[in-house]
Amino acid sequence: MAAFNELVFSGVQPTGNLHLGNYLGAIKRFVEMQERDAQCLYCVVDLHAITLWQDPQALRGQIREVTAAFLAAGIDPKRSIVFNQSQVPQHAELAWIFNCVARLGWLNRMTQFKDKAGKDRENASIGLYDYPVLMAADILAYRATHVPVGEDQKQHLELTRDIAQKFNNDFGPSIQAHGHGEQFFPITEPLIGGPAARVMSLRDGTKKMSKSDPSEYSRIALTDDADAIAQKVRKAKTDPEALPSEVEGLKGRPEADNLVGIFAALRGITREEVLKDFGGAQFSSFKPALVDLAVETLAPINAEMKRLVADPAHIDAVLADGAGRAEAIAAPTLDAVKDIVGFVRRGPALRAV
Ligand code: TRP
Repeated sequence: MAAFNELVFSGVQPTGNLHLGNYLGAIKRFVEMQERDAQCLYCVVDLHAITLWQDPQALRGQIREVTAAFLAAGIDPKRSIVFNQSQVPQHAELAWIFNCVARLGWLNRMTQFKDKAGKDRENASIGLYDYPVLMAADILAYRATHVPVGEDQKQHLELTRDIAQKFNNDFGPSIQAHGHGEQFFPITEPLIGGPAARVMSLRDGTKKMSKSDPSEYSRIALTDDADAIAQKVRKAKTDPEALPSEVEGLKGRPEADNLVGIFAALRGITREEVLKDFGGAQFSSFKPALVDLAVETLAPINAEMKRLVADPAHIDAVLADGAGRAEAIAAPTLDAVKDIVGFVRRGPALRAV
């Protein structure tokens, strides 16, 4: 642990229908993070998933499927720590303590809650409202320094920083007395960006690609085979113009911008570089190139996911191993937090003050 400069944490919800947006916006970047001087933790956030009702049998399958996607995409479970949230009790435990740090007014500003709760706010679960506090606990149980997330999670990361700061302030003297210096929790940096920070629907370039869109044609699922990918890209909405040769030319053309962004992210290049090759091209020639690239990238992941999902015992062993290693980091954090807050706990206080 101490050998690393950074600690990277991120999470993906096991709510089914993993798609290209999850891959390009999250999982692919998780793989890249492994090249940094960092301990990476990648968590299947099942406690978050049940903030909306999940069928138990389906949930179990979805937890294993997200894990399979992590591994198939290239997350190495030896180098990184891959686990599901509910196996590490410190997440829920720290969330309670943070419930007493976070303010009602802060949570009332969370736009994702408003979106997800919709008009029937009174009938939303308390868990859905409290979701961002649990997310802060996920991150801070490991005192993570960096969190790769999509654009839509920016506000939750800001809340995490506010909670860390308020905890550091509220308990300042106790933090010092226990020998942790000025601040106990780091002010975590979000890592947002890349050409695919937002992958949009293939049917409507102004809407995010989403697992809950009723149209299958709006998204490329990680379980889609080559034929399905080809069909969906072919049917993707476009406009009648050729591709521009400059990025500025994509303004006001959300569908064109989205397809160019997807191409760029799959290739690991910028939109500019895509337009260097395809500026002036019609969609009738750009789309087949995009199909080839998407199939080339996703087919091996798809095949490996299938292979892994067929062996749930192996997946479960990876998760159990990851949970043990995660807990070895989170448990000392929680011990320290309990001492700082003033709880009496089993075992020796980290420093008897
Ligand atoms: N809320 C995140 C999402 O929907 C998932 C998540 C839960 C997460 N806990 C996290 C992401 C901690 C980063 C860090 O995408």
